[in-house]
Amino acid sequence: MRSTDTKKKSYQKGVNKMKVTEARFIQQFIRICANGYSKGWHERNGGNLSYRMRPEEVDEVKENFKETTWQNIGASVPTLANEYFLVTGSGRYMMNVETWPEENICIIKVDETGTKFMIVWGLVAGGRPTSELPSHLMNLAVVKARTNGSYRIVYHAHCTNIIALTFVLPLEDKVFTHELWEMATECPIVFPAGVGVVPWMVPGGEEIAIATSELMKKYDIAIWAHHGIFVTGPDFDTTWGLIDTVEKSAEILVKVYSMTGGKKTQTITNDDFKKLEGPFNVKFNDEFLK
Ligand code: 13P
Ligand code: ZN
Repeated sequence: MRSTDTKKKSYQKGVNKMKVTEARFIQQFIRICANGYSKGWHERNGGNLSYRMRPEEVDEVKENFKETTWQNIGASVPTLANEYFLVTGSGRYMMNVETWPEENICIIKVDETGTKFMIVWGLVAGGRPTSELPSHLMNLAVVKARTNGSYRIVYHAHCTNIIALTFVLPLEDKVFTHELWEMATECPIVFPAGVGVVPWMVPGGEEIAIATSELMKKYDIAIWAHHGIFVTGPDFDTTWGLIDTVEKSAEILVKVYSMTGGKKTQTITNDDFKKLEGPFNVKFNDEFLK
């Protein structure tokens, strides 16, 4: 039995109050922050992470919650009304989340109109949730609707090779998708719908949030030109696996360009891609195989 399960039993009996940081969902969240930092994707305060909590996870830790003041989200997300989210703090370093979670991340509640939030736990030394909260919440709203509620995570990271490619490839969904699919046989299987690209925009506001969430209606991945990447998924492992695969593929492509200027002696053809659909029980976005 995991130690968190043992603790959970004693908390259920009312013996102890479970600390928020002992809950499994928060440990998984912290692990992503730490892993992303060790990958080199979170220089300074770069990148942010959000998680739409399950009702039973809220119940598990809500004894620790304290009410604060309502603040504007800067976007409207009525389909997330009254839900709770674990998010990283603005200006906080991913490097520090594992050691000092209470100071660097927080749980927020969205109000009944979907336009305001309240911090109920964390950021104990002050501060506010990530400046990309509009993008996180709008994306979480879009993917919640698209997946019948199963998607819960949005992760933004400054992945080096993906950013490098936005200076070289045309900023088109089709070009990025096809090039990234080509770099490893597993890529089209891991992201069969493809990749969307947002042109350079000012970060941190509603405009870029709307542009990104439009792409999230179709894709699990949105690349921000000259900035980074947003990915989404149902759980921490799948979301991590997705970003790791995409960035690895971008790294191979950067190496190909570095060696040959992008000229490939041989590659995986569109006919080859189609042969993968049956054995792996996936359907690729045909738009990107023309
Ligand atoms: P925050 O520190 O506000 O999360 O911003 C970091 C970032 O990557 C902005 O795009
Ligand atoms: Zn960023």
